[in-house]
Amino acid sequence: MSVEKIIEKSKQSEASLIENPIKPSGKKLFLESYGCAMNFSDSEIIVSILSKEGFTTTKDFNEADVIFMNTCAIRDGAEMRVRKRLTDFKKVKKTNPDLIIGVLGCMAERLKSKLLEEEKLVDIVVGPDSYRSLPELIEIAESGQKAVNVLLSKEETYADIAPVRLDSNGVTAFISITRGCDNMCSFCVVPFTRGRERSRDPETILKEAQELYGDGYREVTLLGQNVDSYLWTGGGLKKENLSTEELNNATSFAQLLEKVAMVNPNLRVRFSTSHPKDMNDDVLHMVNKHENICNYIHLPVQSGNSRILGMMNRGYTREWYMERIEAIRRIIPGCAISTDSITGFCTETEEEHKDTLSLMEWVRYNFAYMYSYSERPKTLAERKYKDDVSEEVKKRRLQEIVALQQIHSGERTRAGLGKIHRVLAERISKKSSNELSGRNSQNTTVVFPKGNYKPGDYVNVLATDCTNATLIGVVVV
Ligand code: SAM
Ligand code: SF4
Ligand code: F3S
Repeated sequence: MSVEKIIEKSKQSEASLIENPIKPSGKKLFLESYGCAMNFSDSEIIVSILSKEGFTTTKDFNEADVIFMNTCAIRDGAEMRVRKRLTDFKKVKKTNPDLIIGVLGCMAERLKSKLLEEEKLVDIVVGPDSYRSLPELIEIAESGQKAVNVLLSKEETYADIAPVRLDSNGVTAFISITRGCDNMCSFCVVPFTRGRERSRDPETILKEAQELYGDGYREVTLLGQNVDSYLWTGGGLKKENLSTEELNNATSFAQLLEKVAMVNPNLRVRFSTSHPKDMNDDVLHMVNKHENICNYIHLPVQSGNSRILGMMNRGYTREWYMERIEAIRRIIPGCAISTDSITGFCTETEEEHKDTLSLMEWVRYNFAYMYSYSERPKTLAERKYKDDVSEEVKKRRLQEIVALQQIHSGERTRAGLGKIHRVLAERISKKSSNELSGRNSQNTTVVFPKGNYKPGDYVNVLATDCTNATLIGVVVV
């Protein structure tokens, strides 16, 4: 079947998603997700689409009719993990030749039909904007053919599809507000795997938040690769093409945040990821204005050196980034800050690496995700620069930033001792069934005796003890 036909059919199935009651097919789907929160959020869309086709999910791949891996391509290691996992499924396919194996998401989009040549047992390859065509692609695979749809879209936001919450604690949920990314950070594969940035209609975001609150959820995290560039202009129009009047009528990220915060004062709002070049004071003032918008900002720096930031095409300097940190501290006192960092980017010298360490010393982040640079095919860096820092040096630099971050994380956690934290209880603690675990506004995990409380309750906890990343306390009324 041609791609055009698949799209046509999937448009029809889009309509039938709404009209038709669930058809019981008795088929079982095993879905494994990798990568960032956006990918996990997409998996909830995938399950929603297939549950309308009568699929149920299973946690045991041995009993599955369809195995899907929703993959990540951000670093080479992420793809290696998927390839390794595929070997586990090879054994199942031997005993069940009708089993359908699909690779979905960013790795599928990056490799396209090449993946079918490289991994013979894969039947379906689907990119992140083509999930509506999954029922048709499964049909094609069932007829014994290979099926691929990796078309990227400028409009698709899956806004009308109600996600099926997976592995949910019933308290916290993700809501996607944008898809794709229009930045071209030179190290990053995301613009190639997820396409152009598009914002989702705020009405559908609000509806999702309201429904979640009605279902007992008490926290939503608004997701986008760069939430600060969210802009709803009434559909499709880009900022550059708007008149001043149209721009005034558009919904910005700060305005969206306020709308979501006003769904209910008992619904906590978080968001990720903020981009240093776009995070403006309006957003910070909005966080400060609403008690239920959490005092936590994830602001990836990537490097503490301006020359490297320039080569990374991040659109800011060390000084600009520091000013943004000062703005957070000024406007939202007590706000927790976390970051992403990459060591050993092309041509990074020892001095430049030390700039990352000194910036970390200056910010003293609450938390950080740290990586060593992994060259990705087709990216700007791969085409323009030499990946000339040895693996050994990359890893040693990584160890240095990890060690420093450990110190800062411990310091930040200990600063919470002796204070009362408003905690949203999320789950029974992993260590003891007599304890609940949740987070405070600053995103620090807090563990406390369960008593008569349950997930979804807000509890005031006096922190009396801690580990490096967790506060332990007692309930105060
Ligand atoms: N959009 C977010 C931003 O701009 O910060 C994050 C995007 S990415 C999904 C998450 C993190 O992976 C990045 O912040 C970066 O630190 C890391 N990353 C991306 N490409 C990488 C690469 N080629 N090698 C190592 N780390 C990488
Ligand atoms: Fe990648 Fe940069 Fe976009 Fe983040 S902002 S997804 S790092 S291109
Ligand atoms: Fe996320 Fe990995 Fe794709 S980090 S956007 S799943 S490349």
